[in-house]
Amino acid sequence: MKGLVLAGGAGTRLRPISHSMPKQLVPVANKPVLVHCLENLADIGVADIGVIVGDRGAEIRAVVGDGSRWGVRVTYIQQDRALGLAHAVLIARDFLGDDDFVMYLGDNILAGGLAHLATAFAERAPAAQVVVTPVPDPTQFGVAVVDGTGRVTRLVEKPRRPEGDLAVIGVYFFTPAVHEAVRAIKPSGRGELEITDALQWLVAEGRHVHAERFGGYWRDTGQIDDVLECNRVLLGRLTGRIDGAVDSDSVLTGVVVVEPGAKIVRSRIEGPVIIGADTLVEDSRVGPHTSLGRGCVLRGAGLDSSIVLNDVSVLGVRGISGSLIGRSAQVSRVAEEPHRHRLVIGDDTKVEVPG
Ligand code: DAU
Repeated sequence: MKGLVLAGGAGTRLRPISHSMPKQLVPVANKPVLVHCLENLADIGVADIGVIVGDRGAEIRAVVGDGSRWGVRVTYIQQDRALGLAHAVLIARDFLGDDDFVMYLGDNILAGGLAHLATAFAERAPAAQVVVTPVPDPTQFGVAVVDGTGRVTRLVEKPRRPEGDLAVIGVYFFTPAVHEAVRAIKPSGRGELEITDALQWLVAEGRHVHAERFGGYWRDTGQIDDVLECNRVLLGRLTGRIDGAVDSDSVLTGVVVVEPGAKIVRSRIEGPVIIGADTLVEDSRVGPHTSLGRGCVLRGAGLDSSIVLNDVSVLGVRGISGSLIGRSAQVSRVAEEPHRHRLVIGDDTKVEVPG
């Protein structure tokens, strides 16, 4: 079985962070979302993986390379415009050949892996298998209507009035039957070739489309709050490891990872927390549910429930919470004029300060 990971698209809902990196590279527990996808595929023995990239392809190649770090072989497939998930299948035809494949949306996090999903697909041998889970607001997703045996009877993309609450999550198992479907459908109202329409085409042709329930933790990392929540959940599954230096005046509680070259001085770290390589934390309080990237400097800082990317400095500012701080950003305190704020911030940025 091959893999097809979708890492094109625009990521407008993740602005401003998607201005500076493709959304699939945003780190969750200090690892890009896309790398979590590749690891999940490698874990079920899928080693031959096509990665769909758009105009941010160079940045994705720089991080993923040939995939050998994760024991997989990556073939890049260029999609010039984000014309839809079924369009991605269409342009991957040569790569996919006549093999079965798993299609994985590169902005979806599934904690706990794909093993039982792959087993269900192998045992039932349907023409296609979607993975579903109940959600409070199904209007944001593809929605499946399923009979008592798990057979899909209808699929609709982001319906205004959903029939049921089963969202289709971003991992699909296909046989080559899908190739005829993606050729048969027409673009939707939003101008995309929808994979949901291709699946509905198979259902209408009388083909067996199975819906397998996912019991684990899943999020589409479409919005900043989803990314922060994924970070909290994945940090909660960490195993602690101290490879950096922690001085005797510091206190670490809970599960903490201190990567090589990192230094903790006179600080309190409340896990789950990851401190990235070569980061200095001095006279600060960090955590819980926080990941700090590489090469950061925190002095007299206090933050929790946050993601801090590489090379950030936080100097003398406490009470930072629920925040996502982009690469090389500087957050610092000025002693005088406490009610004045000087801001040099990028487009689409959100800043919340006390009134
Ligand atoms: O997350 C699950 C949902 O994903 C499903 O419930 C929906 O049925 C499905 O259509 C999809 O909806 P989204 O609107 O969230 O898809 P999005 O545009 O975010 O694209 C998903 C991934 O695929 C993302 O990593 C970008 C990539 N992509 C997207 C398009 C449209 C491509 O590589 N090429 C594309 O043309």
